[in-house]
Amino acid sequence: MAGLNCGVAVALLGVLLLGVERLPRGAEAFEIALPRGSGITVLIKLGALTVPVKPCYVVVSKRHVTMVSIKSGETTVFTFSCQNPENHFVMEIEKKIDCTSGPCPFGEVQLQPPTSVLPALNRTFIWEVTAHKSIGLELQFSTPRLRQIAPGDRCPDGVTHAISGRLDATMVRIGTFCSNGTVSRIKMQEGMKMALHLPWFHPRNVSGFSIANRSSIKRLCIIESVFEGEGSATLMSANYPEGFPEDELMTWQFVVPPHLRASVSFLNFSHSNCERKEERVEYYIPGSATNPEVFKLEDKQPGNMAGNFNLSLQGCDQDAQSPGILRLQFQVLVQHPQNESNKVYEVDLSNERALSLTIEPRPARHGRKFVPGCFVCLESRTCSANLTLTPGSKHKISFLCDDLTRLWMNAENTISCRDHWSCHWKSYPLQVPGDILQLPVQLHDFSWKLLVPKDRVSMALVPAQKLQQHTHERPCGTSFSYLVASAVPGQDLYFGSFCPGGSIEQIQVKQNISVTLRTFAPNFRQEASRQGLTVSFIPHFKEEGIFTVTPDTKSKVYLRTPNWDRGLPALTSVSWNISVPTGQVACLTFSKERTGVVCQTGRAFMVLQEQRTRVEEIFSLEEEALPKPSFHHHSFWVNISNCSPASGKQLDLLFWVTLTPRTVDLTVIVIAVVGGGAFLLFALGLIICFMRKKKKKTNKGLAVGVYNGNVNTKMPGQLKKFQKGRKDNDSHVYAVIEDTMVYGHLLQDSGGSFLQPEVDTYRPFQGTMGDCPPSPPPTCSRPPTLKLTADEPPLCLAPESDSEPYTFSHPSNGDVSSRNTDVPLLDTQQPVEPAE
Ligand SMILES: *[C@@H]1O[C@H](CO)[C@@H](O)[C@H](O)[C@H]1NC(C)=O
Ligand SMILES: *[C@@H]1O[C@H](CO)[C@@H](O)[C@H](O)[C@H]1NC(C)=O
Ligand SMILES: *[C@@H]1O[C@H](CO)[C@@H](O)[C@H](O)[C@H]1NC(C)=O
Ligand SMILES: *[C@@H]1O[C@H](CO)[C@@H](O)[C@H](O)[C@H]1NC(C)=O
Ligand SMILES: *[C@@H]1O[C@H](CO)[C@@H](O)[C@H](O)[C@H]1NC(C)=O
Ligand SMILES: *[C@@H]1O[C@H](CO)[C@@H](O)[C@H](O)[C@H]1NC(C)=O
Ligand SMILES: *[C@@H]1O[C@H](CO)[C@@H](O)[C@H](O)[C@H]1NC(C)=O
Ligand SMILES: *[C@@H]1O[C@H](CO)[C@@H](O)[C@H](O)[C@H]1NC(C)=O
Ligand SMILES: *[C@@H]1O[C@H](CO)[C@@H](O)[C@H](O)[C@H]1NC(C)=O
Ligand SMILES: *[C@@H]1O[C@H](CO)[C@@H](O)[C@H](O)[C@H]1NC(C)=O
Ligand SMILES: *[C@@H]1O[C@H](CO)[C@@H](O)[C@H](O)[C@H]1NC(C)=O
Repeated sequence: MAGLNCGVAVALLGVLLLGVERLPRGAEAFEIALPRGSGITVLIKLGALTVPVKPCYVVVSKRHVTMVSIKSGETTVFTFSCQNPENHFVMEIEKKIDCTSGPCPFGEVQLQPPTSVLPALNRTFIWEVTAHKSIGLELQFSTPRLRQIAPGDRCPDGVTHAISGRLDATMVRIGTFCSNGTVSRIKMQEGMKMALHLPWFHPRNVSGFSIANRSSIKRLCIIESVFEGEGSATLMSANYPEGFPEDELMTWQFVVPPHLRASVSFLNFSHSNCERKEERVEYYIPGSATNPEVFKLEDKQPGNMAGNFNLSLQGCDQDAQSPGILRLQFQVLVQHPQNESNKVYEVDLSNERALSLTIEPRPARHGRKFVPGCFVCLESRTCSANLTLTPGSKHKISFLCDDLTRLWMNAENTISCRDHWSCHWKSYPLQVPGDILQLPVQLHDFSWKLLVPKDRVSMALVPAQKLQQHTHERPCGTSFSYLVASAVPGQDLYFGSFCPGGSIEQIQVKQNISVTLRTFAPNFRQEASRQGLTVSFIPHFKEEGIFTVTPDTKSKVYLRTPNWDRGLPALTSVSWNISVPTGQVACLTFSKERTGVVCQTGRAFMVLQEQRTRVEEIFSLEEEALPKPSFHHHSFWVNISNCSPASGKQLDLLFWVTLTPRTVDLTVIVIAVVGGGAFLLFALGLIICFMRKKKKKTNKGLAVGVYNGNVNTKMPGQLKKFQKGRKDNDSHVYAVIEDTMVYGHLLQDSGGSFLQPEVDTYRPFQGTMGDCPPSPPPTCSRPPTLKLTADEPPLCLAPESDSEPYTFSHPSNGDVSSRNTDVPLLDTQQPVEPAE
C-alpha cells in the first residue's frame, strides 16, 4: 500500500493514452486508463479458486475489494493485498464492436490494453462484434492456427479461444480452440464473440487474429482448416455436445496439400427428431462427378480424398415436443497415400520430339455412388484429374487415387517423313517406351501418326511378330491390338485391327496413317514384349494398302476388306500378297457367293493373279458371283478395287486361306518334267484339274491385265468389254490345256516365251463349298446362276463350268511393270458387245 503515492501522480494520466503504466518496482501498483468511446471494459474478479488460500484483495483508493470494474473513459489505480494475486484473481477485458452504426474497425486485432502492462493475472480478452444480419464476419488466424477441443478439454499452454456466433438474439457456441491447429478462418454472420484466454504466465502479447467483413455466408458458420502436411483435426458441430441449432447449416472447408489424402470419420453423433427435412452431411469433393455427395450420418464417410473439399452439416425441422439433439464430432485425417500411390515415377520424354502422354479418368458411369477423387500429381505438388506430359523433358509423377484402374493413359507420337529424299527406306520402331509401360495405370491407346509427303512416299509396317486380323471368325485374343487407320483428313479408311500371332508379315499403306496400339486387358504389361512394329518409308504406290500374308500350315487365315462395317471406301484398291510355301497348296475361300455391291459410278472388281506366271482372273464384283474355293500352288495376289457404291450396297469381303501339303503335285511335276509328252500332260491334267487356273488369250502377249491400283479406277467401260464374253466360247477349256499352261514354263526351255498357248478361259474347280482339302476333281459344276445361263448350261461331269463368264486370264512376260497403273486394263480388244 505504501507504494501507492507520488508514483501514481507521475503516471501518464494526463496523456489520454490507452494504457496502463506499471508502477515502480516494489510498489506493485497498476493503473488502467480506458479512453472514452473505446468500448472497452475491464473486470478484475476472483477466479475459480482451486485450493483454499488466505484471502487477497484488490486495493483501490485504499479500499479492499474483491472486484474492480473499469469502464471506458475511466482510469483506475490499484494494487493487490497479496504477493500472488494470480492465484486469486482473473481479469476480463471486453471490447464491444458495433458495426450496425457506423463503420467497423476491421483488420488486425490488438490486445488492448497491452499485456505487458497488465497485472499478471489470468486474463480473458473478449471481443463482441454486432453487425447486420447480412454481414459476414471472418476471423482470420495467423499461424499457429487453431485446434478445436471438446468441452472440458484443456489446452497444453492454457491459451484458449472460445468462439460464439449470434443467431438472432441467442449466442451459439461455435467451439473452443487451442493454438497449434489447422483452423485458419471462421466465418460467421450477424455477430460473433471471441474470448481469448491467456494464463497469467503466458508471454503472448498479440491477439493472433484479424477480423474482416464478408458478404453473407447464408449459414451459421464456415470453418476453414488448412493442412500443411500430414495431420488430423477433430471438429464438432456448433454447441457440441449440446444440440445443433434447429434447421441450421454449418460448413467445414478443408485445404489439403495435393500430394496428401484426406479421410473423414465420424467419431460421435446423434440425431434430433426431425419433423421435416432430413439431417445429413454433404460433401464437395474434387473429381467427383456427382457433387454434392450426400451422406447420412451413419454412412461410412469418404476417405482417401485428394484435393480441397468441404463438408456441410444440415439440420432439420425438429419436433417441438421432443426435439432431440443433433450433434456431430468428426475427425479429418490427412496423410500420405498409403499404397503404391506413394511412389514417384519418372517418365523421361527428353529425347522425344512429338510424344505426348495423357493420363486421365477412364470414362465411367458412377450414378449417384460416391467416388473419391483420383489424381495424377506432377512433382508431387500439382495434382489434377487430368495430366498431359509433353515431350522434351523428364517428368516425375505420382498418383493420388484410391483405385488406379479408374485412370488410363493415352499417348500420341508423330513420325514424319518431311521430304522423300531423306527418308526413303529409313525405318523407325513403333514401341511403347518402357517409362510408360512401368506406370501403374493401364495404357489405353498409344497412337503413332505416320506422315509422309503426298504421292511421294508410302510406308511399310513390319511387325515383330506376324499379325492376325481381328475378325468375327477369329477374334484377337491378345491383350492388345494395332488399329490401323488412315490419317488423311476426310478419308474414312480403317484398315482393321491386328494382333500378334497371325500370318500378316507386312502391311503397306499408301499415305498418312495412324497406328494405334490399344490394350484390352491389364495383363498387357506381361504381353508387352510381343509388341513392336517397324515402319519404313518406301517408294510410293497406288493401292491404299497391300497386305503381305504368309499363312501357317496349321490354321486358317481370315482376311477382310478395310472398313469392314461400312464397306470399302469408294474407288479404293487393296491387295493381298499371299505366299504359298513350296510343298503347300493354298485354298482361297470367300465367305459369301456375291458381294452385294451396287456401283453408282465405276466398277468394283477383283483380280486373282498368280505371281509366278502372272496369270490373272478378273471378277466383276458387282455382277458376278465370287469365285468358288480355289487352289493355288504358288504365291498369288488378291487385288480388290472398289467402285463408288450406292449407299447401303457396300463392298465388304471376307475370305480365308488354308494350306495343305502338296503331295501329289510334286511327283506329277517331276514326272511331267522328266517324261514330258502328251499323255503325261493329260494325266497330269486329270490329277490336278481341281486346281483353279484360268487363262485367257491375250493380245499378243501384251500384259493387259494390270490391276488397276489407281483409285480413279477407269475400269467401267473397259471391263464391260468382257462381260458375257463367253460368246466366243472362251469357256471351253480343257483341264489338260490349262495345266500345260500352268506348268508350261517347266516344260519349256529356258527363256522360252510363255506366250504361245492361246488358251481361253480356264474353268475353276467347282467342288463343294467350304473347306477345300485337295480332293478328286469334281463331277458337277455348281448350279447356274441367272447371268450365266444364256448360252452355256453348266456341265456336269466336267471339271469346268460356265459359272464365271467374265473371268479370264492371260500370260504375261515378266517385264511388264505391274505397278504401271497407267496401262489400261484390258484395253486392247475391240469392244465386245455385252450380252445383256
Ligand atoms: C489461471 O489459469 C490457469 C490455467 O489456465 C488455471 O489453472 C488457474 O486456476 C487459473 N487461475 C485462476 C485464479 O482462475
Ligand atoms: C504444436 O504442434 C507441434 C507439432 O504438431 C507439436 O510438436 C507441439 O507440441 C504442439 N504444441 C502445442 C502447444 O500444442
Ligand atoms: C510482443 O512481444 C515481443 C517480444 O516478446 C515484442 O517484440 C513485440 O513488439 C511485442 N508486441 C506488442 C504488440 O507488444
Ligand atoms: C466491408 O465493410 C466496408 C465498410 O465497412 C464496406 O464498404 C464493404 O462493402 C464491406 N465488405 C463486405 C464484403 O461486406
Ligand atoms: C459420444 O458423446 C457422448 C456425449 O458426450 C458420450 O457420452 C459418448 O461416450 C461419446 N461416444 C463416443 C464413442 O465417444
Ligand atoms: C464447397 O466447395 C464447392 C466446390 O469447391 C464450392 O463450390 C462451394 O462454394 C463450397 N462451399 C463452401 C461453403 O465452402
Ligand atoms: C492399399 O492396398 C490394400 C490391398 O491392396 C487395400 O486393401 C487398401 O485399401 C489400400 N489402401 C489404400 C489407402 O489405397
Ligand atoms: C483432360 O484434358 C483434356 C485437354 O485439356 C480435355 O480435353 C479433357 O476433357 C480432359 N479430361 C477430363 C476428364 O478432364
Ligand atoms: C500427310 O501429312 C503430311 C504432313 O502433314 C502432309 O504434307 C501430306 O499432305 C499428308 N498427305 C495427305 C495425303 O494428306
Ligand atoms: C509378296 O510376298 C512375298 C513373301 O513375303 C515377298 O517375298 C514378295 O516380295 C512380295 N511381293 C511384293 C510385290 O511385295
Ligand atoms: C495386284 O496388286 C499388286 C500390288 O499392288 C501388284 O503388284 C500386282 O500387279 C497386282 N496384280 C494385278 C493383276 O493387278
